Amino acid sequence: MCGIVGYIGKRDVAPLLLEGLQRLEYRGYDSAGIAIHASGKAGGLKTAKAKGRVRELESRLPKRFAGTTGIAHTRWATHGAPNDENAHPHMDAEGKVAVVHNGIIDNAAELRAKLTADGVEFASETDTEVLAHLIGRSQAEKLEEKVRDALRHIEGTYGIAVLHSDFADRIVVARNGSPVVLGIGEKEMFVSSDVAALVSHTRQVVTLDDGEMATLKADDYRTYTTEGSRTTSSPETVEYAAESYDMGAHDTYMHKEISEQADAVDRALRGRIDDRFSTVHLGGLNLDAREARGVRRVKILGCGTSYHAGQIGAQMIEELARIPSDAEPASEFRYRNPVVDPDTLYVAVSQSGETYDVLAAVQELKRKGARVLGLVNVVGSAIARETDGGIYVHAGPEVCVVSTKCFTNMVVSFALLALHLGRIRDLSVADGKRIIDGLRRLPAQITEILEGEAEIKKLAELYADAKSMMFIGRVRGYPVAREASLKLKEVSYIHAEAYPASELKHGPLALIEPAMPTVAIVPDDDLLEKNRAALEEIKARSGRILAVAHAVQQKADHTIVVPKNEPELDPILMGIPLQLLAYHTALSLGRDIDKPRNLAKSVTVE
Ligand code: M6R
Repeated sequence: MCGIVGYIGKRDVAPLLLEGLQRLEYRGYDSAGIAIHASGKAGGLKTAKAKGRVRELESRLPKRFAGTTGIAHTRWATHGAPNDENAHPHMDAEGKVAVVHNGIIDNAAELRAKLTADGVEFASETDTEVLAHLIGRSQAEKLEEKVRDALRHIEGTYGIAVLHSDFADRIVVARNGSPVVLGIGEKEMFVSSDVAALVSHTRQVVTLDDGEMATLKADDYRTYTTEGSRTTSSPETVEYAAESYDMGAHDTYMHKEISEQADAVDRALRGRIDDRFSTVHLGGLNLDAREARGVRRVKILGCGTSYHAGQIGAQMIEELARIPSDAEPASEFRYRNPVVDPDTLYVAVSQSGETYDVLAAVQELKRKGARVLGLVNVVGSAIARETDGGIYVHAGPEVCVVSTKCFTNMVVSFALLALHLGRIRDLSVADGKRIIDGLRRLPAQITEILEGEAEIKKLAELYADAKSMMFIGRVRGYPVAREASLKLKEVSYIHAEAYPASELKHGPLALIEPAMPTVAIVPDDDLLEKNRAALEEIKARSGRILAVAHAVQQKADHTIVVPKNEPELDPILMGIPLQLLAYHTALSLGRDIDKPRNLAKSVTVE
């Protein structure tokens, strides 16, 4: 969703900010804007804004738009339509203050009414403009104090960057619930809401905490609380280099990210396996053996693909550690006043670590005294910081809106957690070893699946004419079917339904006809015959079937054969060809693969 970039130094700022905005495009947005301290005698702030893409903004920049300090923004509309007026930065009445803002100001309507009563005229419908006026009207002397004054009136979430024409030597930033990362350069400083916009310039970053502010000058930065007390924050090195955020030789990020999965899984396993005790070490878990033995339930919370990964994870934990476990959409959980049990271990799962619904669920759980672990991809993200401990999934940067390699690495990380909990409880050494051997086989087996891409492409083209598709699976295969169905619909816009195969007779069978193909997950496990019976039922209604199985299925029109691993780990492999199926279906339909319509990579609002 919204993105912030800022720069202060000696270089021409506009091209730098535009490049930063382009790196944030993947998050999803509908307008963009930029404000700079203009160089030259006249000085002052100059802005440019445009509805649409960053290239639109670029084409609108005035000829004279030089400066070495500036802020910029990509906006995903919440308060007010996506148009030029509502695009950030927003200015105060005198045009001295420019603000870019991620998040939502909950009491904006009330503040707007008060300011209007005081004679302020608003130029936009946004909540953010309120903040610009409040800063502009503050009587405090220093910019930091003006910003602090304004923030005292604000209820809601924000990551902000502020310019003031009377303080051309600085950018002031603040964070509450929406990420702000400082990039530390040589006699130049950067700021962004996402390291993706920083890594081509510096890998030295400082991530602000909620309630923290910072002043950036060209050769210096300092951090402090919104109350004004100094904080200490030493720069950390970003794990991935700039190239990891580029598309490389691929035509889309989705293809690149699907192709990276063998390496990504290898990374998730690296340094964690303990052959001596047939278990794994999860350094950041902060859960000792005694505490782990005391866990009576595991509740996993996530959204979308991460929720599906959590569903597979819950089954793994239940099977390997024999702890009752389930997954629930975080977006629902937080609204049903859930019973929070001290013996339950909560696990928040998220690629971005920013998803508002997950973060809000975590905060509610923490408020009630629960122990919450994070299973997160983005290091240092809000959810990673808010949780008591956790597992980084180490998938590397995922840019495509449609999650693929993160899903796989999340499920692998759940397998590690299940194995760890299992070996502390009743999982035998032999079973621990069996799972470890299975985990080690995964990268090579993923490579083998990816080598079958040409065949999957042909199948995708064959089924791409479907208006609707059914996905079925049983027990371990059911969340795989759900995730595959989500993948297909979000990237190809083909309607898809996912059902447990066991439920067909209870209703969905009515949909089966030649124009409604079914994708069936058919692992060679104890439910094989039951799954085959479902294929019979579909075939008897003239339904077309594409099976994903460990061996060719006679009743299916086509089978994608995947290598067999251990039954508990098979869901990891069975999801991968279906990512390729969704990708090639979307490609043959000419879809905007990396940025499907109406979707954003990080859903930072409700
Ligand atoms: O960053 P998160 O994992 O918390 O995101 C959760 C969902 O928004 C995300 O998985 C979404 O469903 C993706 N578009 C799936 O491809």
